[in-house]
Amino acid sequence: MLIRKAADLTYADITPKSVYLDRRKFLRAMGIAGAAAVAGRSLFELATPAQTAFAGTKLSGLAKSPFSTTEKQNSYEDVTHYNNFYEFGTDKSDPAKNAQKFQTSPWTVSVEGDVAKPRKFTMDEILKIAPLEERIYRHRCVEAWSIVVPWIGFSFHNLIKLVEPMPKAQFVAFQSYYDPRQMPQGRGAGIDFPYVEGLRMDEAMNPLTLLCVGMYGETLPNQDGAPVRMVIPWKYGFKSIKSLVKIKFQSKMPPTTWNLSVPNWYGFYSNVNPNVDHPRWSQAKERRLGEIFKRNTLMFNGYGDQVVSMYNGMDLKKNF
Ligand code: MTE
Repeated sequence: MLIRKAADLTYADITPKSVYLDRRKFLRAMGIAGAAAVAGRSLFELATPAQTAFAGTKLSGLAKSPFSTTEKQNSYEDVTHYNNFYEFGTDKSDPAKNAQKFQTSPWTVSVEGDVAKPRKFTMDEILKIAPLEERIYRHRCVEAWSIVVPWIGFSFHNLIKLVEPMPKAQFVAFQSYYDPRQMPQGRGAGIDFPYVEGLRMDEAMNPLTLLCVGMYGETLPNQDGAPVRMVIPWKYGFKSIKSLVKIKFQSKMPPTTWNLSVPNWYGFYSNVNPNVDHPRWSQAKERRLGEIFKRNTLMFNGYGDQVVSMYNGMDLKKNF
């Protein structure tokens, strides 16, 4: 009963793994674990401290995705201890240390701008938009490392359809949560917050574009962008904005954090492109975390078949 099928899951059922393990200890200690199903939720509630986080709860009943790679996945340890989440510090090990107390419940995502039906979504509502899938994607950071992650979520176009964008909505702007009290390390990060990102409308509608609520069979750990983030696998990792609170449809190309910070290094599109070097280093090769030898970086991170048609006729050296 503690592990619910994704389709049946409500946000209120989601409890951090530490709490979930404590419940089991509590029930075992009382010798009534087997009676749990009969006793029902009120017993669990009695045994459960106040919920403070979303991270680390099992999600099951996940559909498999045809977009998944069969490449070897990185370990959970790698993916949760080598992060970029500058609100929690700039070292790769900082987010795992500093994001543990990040409050991600309750949480709402406001969807607004040029849409017929603007609204706020609670996490309960987000989890019900579409069946949850496991999507095993390559994830290529602009710093020339890469990982393979079994993300969980659904194509972002499912959310787009609900709010009915107007024809003038040509772009989607995304904004992360920011609270300097919870994220004091962000003050020294050297970029402005809240973190912002954007996609062109056709990119946002592409089925590969994932609204992500979990990984490795569980809800997202805080350091990986709990409770909800984007994952855009043919673009450099910095497009995959974490801990989303606002999505705005608009006619103008939105500003993006790294472009604002260093405009001649980071463009709006940021498609993975081994032929366009970063001013400071080559993008031709990458190191998969956990491996010694570098491998060649693939155009569009290997997702060209699904995305190349969106860039027909565009000079990708100029539109980097
Ligand atoms: N989102 C926010 N809000 N803040 C950040 O600092 N870093 C980006 C992106 N999303 C970042 C963010 C960068 S640079 C990368 S490479 C990816 O998140 C890293 O995702 P991961 O830590 O899950 O691998």
